[in-house]
Amino acid sequence: MLSKKIESALNGQIAIEAMSSQFYLAMASWAETEGLNGTAAFLYRHSDEERMHMLKLIRFVNERGGKAIVPALKQPPRVFKDINHIFNELFKHEAHVTAEINKVVDSCLKEKDYTTHNFMQWYVSEQIEEETLARTLLDKLALIGSDKGGLYLFDRDLENLTASENGR
Ligand code: FEO
Repeated sequence: MLSKKIESALNGQIAIEAMSSQFYLAMASWAETEGLNGTAAFLYRHSDEERMHMLKLIRFVNERGGKAIVPALKQPPRVFKDINHIFNELFKHEAHVTAEINKVVDSCLKEKDYTTHNFMQWYVSEQIEEETLARTLLDKLALIGSDKGGLYLFDRDLENLTASENGR
């Protein structure tokens, strides 16, 4: 059975995952309208993954005797300056998510809720992967600079990466 404190921490995390999904969906949609099809495919997939992260938490809260709260949706930004802006925002956002997950993990230890602590380890690992990927993409973009040919290849690489991940 979840304590009220852990239930509330997990509901907070549900809202963060939902917001992440919306944020990346807005980025995906913007990228699609800019002709960045590979970037759009990558971000649409990322948005779907965040929704899955949210669902996993909702199911866990309910299975453990709590009540999951489906959060209200906030309007994400409609316009992004350029592709660098997108991946900078994505990296910053993931770092924020990691900090929030660490807070949930910390609360689990304080409350001696080892079941939820164990469940949250999946999110801890997932954040390592997501932050590494975001950092790699930012490094690549820094190398490319304003080279149009490089950007074209970057976008195509993301399309290939997404296609191979989808076929996993
Ligand atoms: Fe579910 Fe990228 O945090």
